[in-house]
Amino acid sequence: MNDLHVQPLGPEDLPALRVALDGRSVTDSSQWPARRAELRSLCVPPVYGAFPALPKQVRCEMLHQATVRAMEDARLWSCRVLADGAPVCLMRVFLPASGGPHPVVLHGDGCWHTATDGVIADLLRRGYAFAQFNRVEIAPDMPGPPRPVAALAAWAWGYHRAVDALCQLEALDATRIAVVGHSRGGKAALLAGATDERIALTSANNSGAGGAGCWRGGTTGAETLADITRVFGYWFAPALAQWAGREATLPFDQHFLKALVAPRALLTTEALGDHWANPQGTWVTHQAAQAVFDWLGVPQQLAIRYRAGDHAHTPADWAALLDFADHLWRGAPRPAGLGGPPDSLDGRGPG
Ligand code: GCU
Repeated sequence: MNDLHVQPLGPEDLPALRVALDGRSVTDSSQWPARRAELRSLCVPPVYGAFPALPKQVRCEMLHQATVRAMEDARLWSCRVLADGAPVCLMRVFLPASGGPHPVVLHGDGCWHTATDGVIADLLRRGYAFAQFNRVEIAPDMPGPPRPVAALAAWAWGYHRAVDALCQLEALDATRIAVVGHSRGGKAALLAGATDERIALTSANNSGAGGAGCWRGGTTGAETLADITRVFGYWFAPALAQWAGREATLPFDQHFLKALVAPRALLTTEALGDHWANPQGTWVTHQAAQAVFDWLGVPQQLAIRYRAGDHAHTPADWAALLDFADHLWRGAPRPAGLGGPPDSLDGRGPG
């Protein structure tokens, strides 16, 4: 990445996070819950529309339990998640052979098989459980007639129902649930983590437009609001398309969504060569959101990591998530390599 790919844009160009709708500055952390609610109403419905209704009851039905010899005798549970009696999705939960309660990494991209056996074995070896569902069972990832609920909201809701189910499994540590997804799945994971305070760690990989990227710009050649709403309109609230070409006047940007995660933990993992996913704009929203994490006294809860290469959810990205979780939950040192991209707008290299 070099300066030719970067548009002049900084965190100061984004709408203020700590000025309430009544114009007053938000100075005391006791005001955060109210401001957080405002931020949510400003940045969630206009982009993603309404979520499906909250069910009264969610059940995790156990369908089968197996031992996976090829994964050091890991336990593998097949479950069905039901909301008010209706099936939501299937979910597979891998657990280390013994011990617990285990922290768990929840992944919704079953449709992509980015969590290879090697990735899952590594998670288990490091003492994490791994739960996977397939978000397209909840809302298909195909264009079609207008839908009452846009796909990203349906997928995020799916993460929430999977969390409901995971909270019912005693072998898991419900205070240490991480969610992760890649690209469109990363957009869904970020939305899920931003809107559910039971999720302790949110992670989005190469999530770009409608995820961790900045609507206002960043990387030349990044996907724009016009691009994404034209091709993937069914992911978003229909009214979002009206902002195409007028992004500079949006009353929010994606740093609002990132800030909703505070004071819980957020890691985004980015690829320097993935220009379409706007690595520079993601750094801008990161810096803007960092101000809220700093102000709340939890600067270390927000992290970003850049690697060389292209659009993919690689084993290195999975390892970066586990290294960060080890730091948050197990007292491991803060991983090396977190920080802005080389040649970032403010010149700060990886920290
Ligand atoms: C397309 C889309 C992106 C999305 C990506 C993916 O490239 O334009 O917004 O992130 O698909 O999900 O892989």
